[in-house]
Amino acid sequence: MIYFDNAATGWPKPENVYKFMDHFYRTLGVNPGRSGYDLAIEAGSLLANLRKRLTRFFGGDEDAPERLIFSYNVTDAINLIVPGLLGRGDHVVTTNLEHNSVIRPVNHIVRDHGAEATFIPFNSAGFVEPGEIEAALRPNTKAVIVNHGSNVLGTVQPIQQIGNICREHGVTFVVDTAQTAGVIPINMREMNVDVVAFTGHKALMGSMGIGGLCVRKHVEVRQVRSGGTGVRSIEPYHLEEYPFRLEYGTPNMVGVAALWAGQDWLDEHGVEKVHDQEMRLAHQLVEGFRKIDGVRLYCCENLENHLPTILMNVEGVDPGDVGIMLDVDHDIATRTGLHCAPLVHKQLRLVESHGGVRFSVGPFNTEQDVTAAVDAVAQIAAWSKRPDRKPKPVAQR
Ligand SMILES: Cc1ncc(COP(=O)(O)O)c(C=O)c1O
Repeated sequence: MIYFDNAATGWPKPENVYKFMDHFYRTLGVNPGRSGYDLAIEAGSLLANLRKRLTRFFGGDEDAPERLIFSYNVTDAINLIVPGLLGRGDHVVTTNLEHNSVIRPVNHIVRDHGAEATFIPFNSAGFVEPGEIEAALRPNTKAVIVNHGSNVLGTVQPIQQIGNICREHGVTFVVDTAQTAGVIPINMREMNVDVVAFTGHKALMGSMGIGGLCVRKHVEVRQVRSGGTGVRSIEPYHLEEYPFRLEYGTPNMVGVAALWAGQDWLDEHGVEKVHDQEMRLAHQLVEGFRKIDGVRLYCCENLENHLPTILMNVEGVDPGDVGIMLDVDHDIATRTGLHCAPLVHKQLRLVESHGGVRFSVGPFNTEQDVTAAVDAVAQIAAWSKRPDRKPKPVAQR
């Protein structure tokens, strides 16, 4: 199988990640920080060291690594930060590029808790104009939330410029790095990013079930959940101090091990180098698709400020059918439909036609994979033009 669904999850994982997860769980798989015995202390120190390592990775406040907190994934992290920052009468500015992991928590805080939200559209190339964000700010705007890299279009947003605007206006800037962490370097201090939300299972090379937040020191986040912390058990209410403020219950230590090994892999291979290699393949893919009559590409004119994520359609064929033909006839895995980001498809007027087909390149794809994908799409496009074209493959299956 040729895997072009890396935007959904990075797969396969590097070998050292599998190995370290297995080794860690066999030898140190105890509850960290809950007890004073050696193994618990050792497990706890991996957790503490990963907080430090990821704080450095995101350019957060290195003297406050406890503000790097772990959650299940980026969706969970955003569900902590949205009600943690916003409440009745507060306004948030976000964008049409967001994943449902932002859209829905924002919609809930509006509908259920009396906040207000403005969604900024993207331009024809797939980028949000920082000026439009600035124009949308109001006296009661508390936060701006932006998807760093679109999981549908692959476009990478001008975080530095938006960060500068937020800093000037005293608004908390939250960045969803689900698609960019491990792909595009981010430096929170330089870019004026106040909160980074991340997920472990994509380009950070970790596993599913772990994500988190990196929160700068000056940002106040309300604690919104409560439970066990392993320390100060006599307290009747959840602890205020970080990391406990935003962490609850037993952490996903296998995920911590995976993220640790993922960092090792990224250090060894270099974030920029991996991205360059993926972008070379993305260019090859786009060039191949451009030569095929009947293929429509979206927002990938020159692939500048872009992830190796390409949205396309074959004229006259439902994207779901294209995905099935790629899978069944060519053993190629892609993601079709609305990609959990319905406002992107709404703005592109693709909802009625069921969205698009997304090819997302990862570090283990090869030129041969790309050639096979272009050949497969060429065959589907040729089939779509045949007058004797058979019923949809959905029906055939
Ligand atoms: C931009 C973006 N945000 C959020 C998410 C949600 O990630 P998770 O399912 O790991 O919470 C994704 C996943 O595809 C994404 O691409």
